[in-house]
Amino acid sequence: MSRIIKPTIITMLFLVGFGCNTTKTPSHNKGISKSNSPFDAKIDSLMNLMTLQEKIGQTVMYSGDLTVTGPVVSNNNQKYVKEGAVGAMLNVFSAKATRDLQKIAVEDTRLGIPLLFGYDVIHGFKTIFPINLGLAASWDLEDIKKGSRIAAQEASAEGIHWTFAPMVDISRDPRWGRISESAGEDVYLASKIGKAYVEGFQGDDLSKHNTILATAKHFVGYGAAQAGREYHTVNMGQDELWNVYLPPFKATVDAGVETFMTAFNELNGVPATGNKYIFRNILKDKWNFKGFVVTDYFATNELVMHGYAKDRKEATKLAMEAGVDQDMMSNANHEYLEELVNEGQVDIELINDACRRILLTKYKLGLFDDPYRYSDKQREKEVIYKPEFLEAARQSAAMASVLLKNDDTSLPLNKTQTIALIGPLVKDKENIIGNWAAEGDRKGKAISIHQGIQEYLEDSKIVFAKGCDIEGNDESGFNAAIQAAKTADKVVMILGENYKMSGEAASRSSIKLPGSQTNLIKAIRKAVPNKKIVLVIMNGRPLDLSEEDILADAILETWFPGTSGGYGVADVLFGAYNPSAKLPVTFPRTIGQIPIYYNMKRAGRPNHNDNPNERYSSNYIDVRNSPLYAFGHGLSYTNYEYSDITLSSTTISFSDTLSVSATITNTGDYDGYEVVQLYIHDKVGSLTRPVKELKGFKKVFIKKGETITVNFDLTVEDLKYYNADLKFGVEPGEFQIAIKGTSDFDFKHSFKLE
Ligand code: GLC
Repeated sequence: MSRIIKPTIITMLFLVGFGCNTTKTPSHNKGISKSNSPFDAKIDSLMNLMTLQEKIGQTVMYSGDLTVTGPVVSNNNQKYVKEGAVGAMLNVFSAKATRDLQKIAVEDTRLGIPLLFGYDVIHGFKTIFPINLGLAASWDLEDIKKGSRIAAQEASAEGIHWTFAPMVDISRDPRWGRISESAGEDVYLASKIGKAYVEGFQGDDLSKHNTILATAKHFVGYGAAQAGREYHTVNMGQDELWNVYLPPFKATVDAGVETFMTAFNELNGVPATGNKYIFRNILKDKWNFKGFVVTDYFATNELVMHGYAKDRKEATKLAMEAGVDQDMMSNANHEYLEELVNEGQVDIELINDACRRILLTKYKLGLFDDPYRYSDKQREKEVIYKPEFLEAARQSAAMASVLLKNDDTSLPLNKTQTIALIGPLVKDKENIIGNWAAEGDRKGKAISIHQGIQEYLEDSKIVFAKGCDIEGNDESGFNAAIQAAKTADKVVMILGENYKMSGEAASRSSIKLPGSQTNLIKAIRKAVPNKKIVLVIMNGRPLDLSEEDILADAILETWFPGTSGGYGVADVLFGAYNPSAKLPVTFPRTIGQIPIYYNMKRAGRPNHNDNPNERYSSNYIDVRNSPLYAFGHGLSYTNYEYSDITLSSTTISFSDTLSVSATITNTGDYDGYEVVQLYIHDKVGSLTRPVKELKGFKKVFIKKGETITVNFDLTVEDLKYYNADLKFGVEPGEFQIAIKGTSDFDFKHSFKLE
C-alpha cells in the first residue's frame, strides 16, 4: 500500500535520532521514569522538540461520537486535533473515519504525532462472543484468548489501536449491572482470565497491525459499590483490597498490559481518579507499571461531583498528581494544565512522564513508522465476519452455557419430539449479543435460539408462542402459550433480561426475572403438570431462580451468547456439545443473601445452616445460608465420579512442592469436558482466611467409561496472602485440600506446612 508522508519534522528527526543518539537529555526531561525501551532515544528526541502545549495534547482524549458511551458528547472537540492538542480519540472506527482523522494529526500539525484510536472491544467487535461473565463460565483460557484475538483482528481492521478491556473488577453483587462484563467473584479465576484477555488482544508483538493495546479496568474496587448501586461508594479494608480486588490487576501487569483505566468510584473516601495511593504507590511504584493510565469517561470532572475537588481546575491538578496520564472527555487537561504548570501548581515533570508513557505506546504500535497501517480498507473487507470467526463464536457460546439443573435427563432434546418453544427471547436477535457489544449487529447477523433450533428440528416439530414480553405485566399471551404447551411433547422456554438491564448504569434492585415471565412459567407448569419444562435463561447477571428451580425440570444458563449464540445454545440443547461450563459467580436463593460468594470468611459462630435450631449461629432465620447454585457448579449430560485425592506428602516445608491428584471417571453415556477444580483452606492465619480458595483448575476431556488422573502441583507461593502488615507471605499450619467439580463440598483431606 503506497502512502506519501510529508517529510514532517518528526520524520526528519528520526533520521537523526535513529542514526546517532547525540541528544543529551535536556534539563526539563531529567529524572523522568525511563521505560528502558528501545524507543527511549526517539522519545527523547521528539520530546525535545515538543512545546508544553503539545505535550499536554498527548494527555487529552476526545470522543468522535460515532457511538456515545458517557454522559456528555464531544461536540466536535476533534477540531483540536489539527492544533496538536489531542493525543487520542475514542468511539471513532472504520478505515475511512480513522484515516481521515489521522491524516489531520499527521499532516496538518507541526510535529505530525499520530493519534491513538480507542474503543470498547469488550467481547467482540463485529463478531460478538458471549458476554464476559459467560466467557468466564467456560473456564477455557485458550478459548477466551482466541476470542479476544479475533476481536483484535476485526477491530484493528477498522482502525482501532486500543481496546478498553479487559474489565477485571471482582464482582460479587448481582444487583450491579457490570457484573456482566466481569470474570465473576473469584480472584484466581479472574486473574487467569485477565491474563488471557491481555495476551489475546496484545498478541506477542504490538508492532503487528492486528494486535491492539489492552486496558486493565476499572482500577480499583468498582465491583464493590455499596448495595450494588452503580458508581456508588466503595469502602474496604486492606485485607479485601490486597487479597481480593488488586490481584487480578496485578495479573494483567504481569501479562504486559499497556494501559489502565481509572474507576468512577471513590475508594475509602478518595475517588480513584484522584487516588495517589493506588496509581502512584501501588501501580507505578510497587508494580513498576510503565504503561499509561487513562481516566474513565469524564471522570476528572467528577472529582468535583464527588466533593474531592473544589473545581475542575483543582480536579485536573489532583488527577495529574495521582498519576493519571490521560484525560478522557473531561476537557480538563486541555483547559487547565498549561495554566497549572505556569502557576507552578503542577510539576512539568508529571506532564513529561505522562507524555512519554503515551508516546511509547504509539512507538510500540509502529504508528510513527506508518500512522495509517490500521486504517486499511482492503483488510477491513477481508477480515470482518470471517466464517471461522462466526464458528469460533458458536463454540464459545456452547462452552459458556451452564447446565444448572437436569432432572430425569430432560436434556438433551431429541429430534423426534415436538417442542413448544415459548418466551420473549425465543426469536430475539437484539438482546442476544448482550451489552457492550461494540459494532455487533442486533438485526440480521445475530442468530436467534429459534434459528439455532431450526437447524435440528423441522418447523413441523416446533410450536412457537411468545407468551409475554421481557418487561411489563401483560399476560394476554399466556393462553396461546398454554395451548402450545398442551400440543407439544416437551416445553422449552427462553426467558431472561434485555441487554439494557446489565452493563453500565444498569443496576437492578431486584434480581428476579423481569415482567410477568415467572407467572408465565407458573401458568405453563399448571397447564401441563406432567410435561418436561426446559428453561433457557438469557441474562447479564446471576438471577434469583428459586421459583423457577422448582417449576422447571432443566435449566440452562446461556448469559447473552453472542452473534452465533442461537447455534451454540442449540448445540447444547440437542447434545451436539455436552455442556461443560461452571458458574464463575454464585447464584443466590434470594437477594437478601447478597453479598454471597463461596470464598467467604468463617465467622466466630456456625454459619453452615445444617442445624436451623442452632440459635446462636450466623444463619438467617428465614432462608438457608447456602446459595441456590454454587460457584463452580455446572452439570454435564454425563457423570464424573471423583476419587479421593492422593497427596505426595501430608507435610511440606517452605521449599517443597506438594503434588495432589485425583482420578475422575466418566460413568455416563457421553464424552465430555470437565473443569476439575483445586481448592484449599488455610485453617489459621494472622488474618482470617476464606473457607475455600480456588488454587487451580484444568479443563479435561474424558471419554465415556474412561478414567483419568488429574494432578496439581502446589508450592508455598500458591498459599501466600497479604497479611495485616501487607507482607505477602504465609504462616506454617494446617491446610485443607480438595479436588472437585464444584465449590459445593466439605473438605476431607489436609496437609501441614512446617
Ligand atoms: C464508560 C465505561 C468504561 C468505558 C469508557 C469508554 O463510561 O465506564 O468502561 O471503557 O466509558 O467508553
